[in-house]
Amino acid sequence: MKKVTIFIGSQRKQATYQAVQEFEKNLKSYAEIEFEYVFLKDYHIEYCKGCNLCFNKGEEYCPLKDDRDLLIEKMNNSDGVVFATPNYSFQVTALMKCLMDRLAFTLHRPRFFGKTFTAIVTQGIFGGVSIEKYLERIGGNWGFCVTKGCCLTALEPRTELEQRKISKKIKKTSVRFFRELMRPAPSPPSFFKLMVFRLTRTSMMLILNKKYYDYRYFKEKGWFESDYYYDTSLGFIKKIAGNFFDFIGKRLAKKR
Ligand SMILES: Cc1cc2nc3c(=O)[nH]c(=O)nc-3n(C[C@H](O)[C@H](O)[C@H](O)COP(=O)(O)O)c2cc1C
Repeated sequence: MKKVTIFIGSQRKQATYQAVQEFEKNLKSYAEIEFEYVFLKDYHIEYCKGCNLCFNKGEEYCPLKDDRDLLIEKMNNSDGVVFATPNYSFQVTALMKCLMDRLAFTLHRPRFFGKTFTAIVTQGIFGGVSIEKYLERIGGNWGFCVTKGCCLTALEPRTELEQRKISKKIKKTSVRFFRELMRPAPSPPSFFKLMVFRLTRTSMMLILNKKYYDYRYFKEKGWFESDYYYDTSLGFIKKIAGNFFDFIGKRLAKKR
């Protein structure tokens, strides 16, 4: 059975909680799926101190002792992950931002391949669409297969029309997420994702060396030789494009 974990950035069990409950109900109507709700307010998450040890030496050198690794384990043990947050001053809540900063090293060393991710944002009036996009970008950079999420707008108490619009958006988000969740293997990368991977790994291979943690991580994963982060069939055109991106990566590295 697939497992989905929902990370909730709200302090309350209201609009965001209602939205994820509706999302869960939709998914459970398609298949038997296990759900876990993680209310970030119930976990100990410290503010990142900016020492850079996680980037430079490895995340195990982080001086902070909090629930970061427990939350990472929850992501590792899930097939699907949802980040759900209210819009607070045009951003995710501080709780959720705190978690993302604690996992910033994952932007350098992505890991959640083959897992599905989406974002659900609730708001009163305006500004949440860019938060949804921001979360989708974070999910993608952490390695997840991202499906488009939603931004749900309503002032309380909601009108019937507002509720209908919200339910429609949640339904679409649920269908997209479910389809990706049920895929037997992750889909091949887009040209853009392939380009970013090949430029990154080629320049990293030529510019860095084994003194750097990121370099060792990429080498251990076999990413200096592989077509992409994970096993996938690129097809003829993407294989040629990949070789071309490696060539550009080499030239860029030499020019440095
Ligand atoms: C501190 C704070 C900042 C907020 N900022 C915004 C905002 O910038 N734009 C907006 O549309 N709604 C804003 N809201 C409204 C919430 O996003 C909205 O009520 C949300 O649905 C609350 O979710 P919850 O019931 O799960 O806590 C803000 C609310 C709070 C408490």
